Amino acid sequence: MNNLPTITILGAGYVGLTSAALFATSGYTVYVVEPNKQRLEAIKQGRSFFFEEGIDAVIKSGIDNGTLIPTDSYADSVTHSHIVFSCVGTPDNPDGSSNLTYVFAAAKEAVKYLRPDGIYVQKSTVPVGTGQQIAQLFTSLNSNVAYTSNPEFLREGTAVYDTLYFDRVVVGGENTQAVRVVLDIYRQLESHRDDIAHIAGISPRPRKGTYIATDLSSAELIKVTANAFLALKISFANSIAQLADATGADIVKVMDAVGADERIGRAFLNAGRGYGGGCFPKDVSSLISSSHSLGVDTSIMEAAQGVNASMPAYILEKLTQRLGSLADKNIAVLGLAFKANTSDVRKSPGIKLANILSENSAKVTTYDPKAKDEAQNELHSDIQQHPSLSEAIRGVDAVIVATEWSEFRLFFETIDQPVEKPYILVDAVNIIDSKALRGTNIAYLGVGRS
Ligand code: UGA
Repeated sequence: MNNLPTITILGAGYVGLTSAALFATSGYTVYVVEPNKQRLEAIKQGRSFFFEEGIDAVIKSGIDNGTLIPTDSYADSVTHSHIVFSCVGTPDNPDGSSNLTYVFAAAKEAVKYLRPDGIYVQKSTVPVGTGQQIAQLFTSLNSNVAYTSNPEFLREGTAVYDTLYFDRVVVGGENTQAVRVVLDIYRQLESHRDDIAHIAGISPRPRKGTYIATDLSSAELIKVTANAFLALKISFANSIAQLADATGADIVKVMDAVGADERIGRAFLNAGRGYGGGCFPKDVSSLISSSHSLGVDTSIMEAAQGVNASMPAYILEKLTQRLGSLADKNIAVLGLAFKANTSDVRKSPGIKLANILSENSAKVTTYDPKAKDEAQNELHSDIQQHPSLSEAIRGVDAVIVATEWSEFRLFFETIDQPVEKPYILVDAVNIIDSKALRGTNIAYLGVGRS
């Protein structure tokens, strides 16, 4: 037994399950509430239902120690807890705004069971102003529970690492004591982080994180602004990549030099097929939608969104210029996850490319090392998934590398002789060193690397 508060986490997605497993391994007793039976069963057996480096070992450690308790019941978990983190999903509505049905339903249900001096922490990404509405809801239900916002900055694929070795933790709320208690959870995590990294099998990092306490609305705005700015950087790089194509410059060299300026930074300036995933597309459209409803101009973000949407067609147009009509051509798309080191295919650029090719009557084959199952329902029915890279590219006219899996870079950079049938290699993520292909008959086509 220790004096640490007991925590309940609502929702076992990337954010919820990662946070639950790490808090449980740093000394807290953590209930994780997940309604999906299959997911719940996987967690009970000490593993996640998605691919994420290091997470299974941490979940297993929490389950074995009895500090991580999976359940589908609010009554069995929230009743025993001092702090509840909401990590439920926020899908987007058809008009681009955030669908907050789960966010409000979770808050309403949890507050029935949470003790009067409890703390409710919002981790799901919500539009600015949502927190104030939930705090008002609590008041209308005669609850004194303190509401705080603790936005999440972890990336899929490096979720455990990002949570342990955070750059900053932001907690916003009007109850300063509650804000302090939530920040303390991360201090506790930080004090155990190297031991947990050892369990997860990931390398530690020496730098300490920064702790930031704010008001509620600022915390909410920090989250969407960070994602929107990163999306803006990517679209800016993609816009300049088109200029590089038109002028014979190399976007990688350009961004290496531009990003060497500390004021700018190199991160998120990789040009290619544009951003995907469960966050950037949704957060950008939600920011645009909530700004519109408040009468605030968002032309800069609309431009970023427009550039992003145009990139798959831009890349396929470049391929058409080389190959002629894509109809009846054999084309392999490598990489169906929205980025490397994850099996997540939400808003995946690789799937978008494959589907556009199929709509243009190309014969499309695909391969992804981890996302095969998750991709199956998203791909048009005529698209063939293959169990290996070499099978997917057999006899092709062109290959499109759409995800930065290192397996792809290694494969193409180690071909050292002409292949049986020459093809065009479209590097839609600019990861392959075209010089490595010199001894082959493969034609390289990057994005902004003419
Ligand atoms: C993003 C943010 O990076 C996290 O900080 C945030 O917590 C998370 O959203 C969230 O809101 O939950 P994530 O969506 O997991 O994380 O993935 P990123 O690594 O940011 O990549 C997003 C997309 O941008 C991917 O499709 C990636 O391939 C693409 N990208 C990234 C580029 O096209 N170019 C780049 O230079 C960087």
